[in-house]
Amino acid sequence: MGTEARIERLRELREEALHAGSQRAIARQHEQGKLTARERLDALLDKGSFQEIDQFVRHQSSGFGIEDKRPLGDAVVTGHGTIDGRPVFVFAEDFTVFGGSLSKVVADKICKVMDMALDTGTPLIGLKDSGGARIQEGIASLDGYGRIFERNVRASGVIPQVSVIMGPCAGGAVYSPALTDFVFQVDQTSHMFITGPDVIKAVTGEEVTMEELGGAAAHASKSGVTHFVYPTGIDALEAVRYLMSFLPRNNMELPPYFAPTDRPDRLDDSLDSIIPDSANQPYDMVELVETVLDSGEFLEVHELWARNIVVGFGRLDGHAVGVVANQPSILAGTLDIEASEKAARFVRFCDAFNVPIITFVDVPGFLPGVDQEHHGIIRHGAKLLYAYCEATVPRISVITRKAYGGAYLVMNARGIRADLVFAWPSAEIAVMGAQGAVNIIHRREISGTDDPEKTRTELISDYEEKFNNPYVAAELGLVDEVIEPRETRYKLIRALEVLRTKRETLPPKKHGNGPQ
Ligand code: HXC
Repeated sequence: MGTEARIERLRELREEALHAGSQRAIARQHEQGKLTARERLDALLDKGSFQEIDQFVRHQSSGFGIEDKRPLGDAVVTGHGTIDGRPVFVFAEDFTVFGGSLSKVVADKICKVMDMALDTGTPLIGLKDSGGARIQEGIASLDGYGRIFERNVRASGVIPQVSVIMGPCAGGAVYSPALTDFVFQVDQTSHMFITGPDVIKAVTGEEVTMEELGGAAAHASKSGVTHFVYPTGIDALEAVRYLMSFLPRNNMELPPYFAPTDRPDRLDDSLDSIIPDSANQPYDMVELVETVLDSGEFLEVHELWARNIVVGFGRLDGHAVGVVANQPSILAGTLDIEASEKAARFVRFCDAFNVPIITFVDVPGFLPGVDQEHHGIIRHGAKLLYAYCEATVPRISVITRKAYGGAYLVMNARGIRADLVFAWPSAEIAVMGAQGAVNIIHRREISGTDDPEKTRTELISDYEEKFNNPYVAAELGLVDEVIEPRETRYKLIRALEVLRTKRETLPPKKHGNGPQ
């Protein structure tokens, strides 16, 4: 065969690989409101940037009639491309080929890009739409999942890993996304579960639909498995691009800098009146956070889960920051099991990837209750404490109002090595609220008077006068500066400037043994 004919043959093969799935399967995919793997990659990556790897890989299996069906590329499209000019490795499971199921060679292809991503320190994005292990291949396919999981863990904390669930993702297959840093789900068309509705009905008698069990709403608001939900695949992929703008390429690099359009010295008077006069009245912490960040831009992570704490990414003077903030309008901003887990995972991500952490504190304490205690608020609350203590990135706190007891410490207090702690004049920093404190330390005095209620009220106001302010903490150097709320953005930017060269290392160890 001459050279020209050989080139022609290559062109034919390439064309064939682009059409691995049948027309019928592609039409069905579209009818269900889903895109094909290649359409998804087109939407995710910069136009024309995708470079495919292993386009001609075919499965080598026989039996069950599949030896006659060996589409080029098998059931996954893999390679690399760019997002806003920055490289990423990708794999997209192709439901139009064997239902996107994981054969040995599909696992080989995914492992190859995972290895390349880790070797080159480049983020990995997986688009998931699969019927699970390739049933015809049995154990070889199961082993493939094992090889992927091990790589997910090896890469954790070295490169950002993102999973986008765009179709079925069931059985043990769910553990690959669960090991990655961020999970996106497309509403209505994606489902994740360990055991499906039929098995659940057979074992427990419970009746549940796929959507109720493992749809985006369930995982984004109840289980916390999913960080982001979007109505369509295109929306989700657009959001992945936005998320990547906050992340560095790997743990040795800093997140990208974007020239800000917002002035660093912008003072915002609205912050001076955001805290209500009454201590028990809520306000919206998200509004406060957006007011401080560059151009009001805040990408909230886990927006629908554990809403009593707010976490997410924004920028200050063009540099990415991670924000952790109590949300006084939900459960009074108390820390409970889910809030502790949510914030701990986020703090650990920021620390691993060199994103400074800004903590806005308004926390009356841990959520009291038998249910919380028996489900392990001690163990789970310790996760957040551990995450902050371990974090070596710049850590700055702003106490806007309440900072009580153990929850004060957990929320990045100076005692756990915060770099800088600012407090607003409305800050109340104390072991506990005035009412609780007075009932304990003045019990005898109150019950011994003619008018216990009057005495109690007087003692409470006395206590408030003494302790419900930031100045006791400032006298002890536990608050570095009491600032006017309007100055917050400027103060944070100046603090970040000086902390940018912070170098702190932990004592050498294999790894800690935190209460994960
Ligand atoms: C081989 C599969 C497949 C699989 C689907 N297909 N799943 N082929 N192995 N696991 C094929 C179908 O035979 C069909 O082929 C095509 O993909 C589309 O599937 P449909 O069933 O027609 O699609 P749909 O009605 O949309 O249903 C999707 C589905 C269903 C819910 C995912 O296919 C399904 O239940 N699949 C099996 C799921 C499963 O039990 N997987 C193994 C679990 S064990 P044709 O040729 O007809 O188009 C597992 C363990 C992982 O995954 C453990 C990791 C540790």
